[in-house]
Amino acid sequence: MIRWIRRYTAGERSNHWLVAIAFVLAMLSGLALFHPAFFFLSNLFGGGTWDRILHPYIGVFLALFFLVLAFQFWRYVHFVPADRVWMRHIGDEICNRDERLPEVGKFNAGQKYVFWMVVVTVPVLMISGIVIWRPWFAAYFPLPVLRIAVLIHALVAWLMILGIIVHIYAGIWVKGSIRAMTRGTVSPAWAKHHHRAWYREMTGK
Ligand code: HEM
Repeated sequence: MIRWIRRYTAGERSNHWLVAIAFVLAMLSGLALFHPAFFFLSNLFGGGTWDRILHPYIGVFLALFFLVLAFQFWRYVHFVPADRVWMRHIGDEICNRDERLPEVGKFNAGQKYVFWMVVVTVPVLMISGIVIWRPWFAAYFPLPVLRIAVLIHALVAWLMILGIIVHIYAGIWVKGSIRAMTRGTVSPAWAKHHHRAWYREMTGK
């Protein structure tokens, strides 16, 4: 009898947690710059000046680590016709009635959306962040461009934060998923229940 099924390699897990740490640091240091109500968070980074200096570099690390993650997960994230049916029955997924859903491969449609959300938001944050990055690049752009870039940066950061909150909530909600990203393995029952097509592929059953 198989006891555990391998879901992620050590390289995939290490990189995922590097992305996660970079995201949390970018979020905290960014919120400190966003509104005075969050300014106290800058104490975590050595005060306002250091927060302002470090935030863009943390963003660059986030983008680089995510680029590697994107290559690691690339072959699992393409949408298939069954994903549309899955999205229409998302209520059954939330209520744990997976038997009413089409068979799912390595990632379900919700996970694919998380991936694509990050693929879109990270480059937008990166580009708008470079435009407003003083003293390196901001001087090359006229003031109206800087203002629009600041607005886009803040709006897209909020979108990403909301998306990642949903991602973390789903990871904790679906019992047995956190283990996949810490130990790299899942139980056969977990795989059969949540990702039946992937279970077949892995076990030949
Ligand atoms: C900070 C706390 C985070 C936690 C607790 C967490 C948890 C998890 C877990 C448990 C999985 C495995 C799901 C499964 O195999 O079914 C996973 C996968 C994944 N994570 Fe995270 N994650 C976090 C942050 C992030 C961040 C910041 C990003 C990207 C910016 C990210 C991107 C991904 C992607 C693309 C996958 C694979 C597809 C998916 O499950 O959506 N994660 N995460």
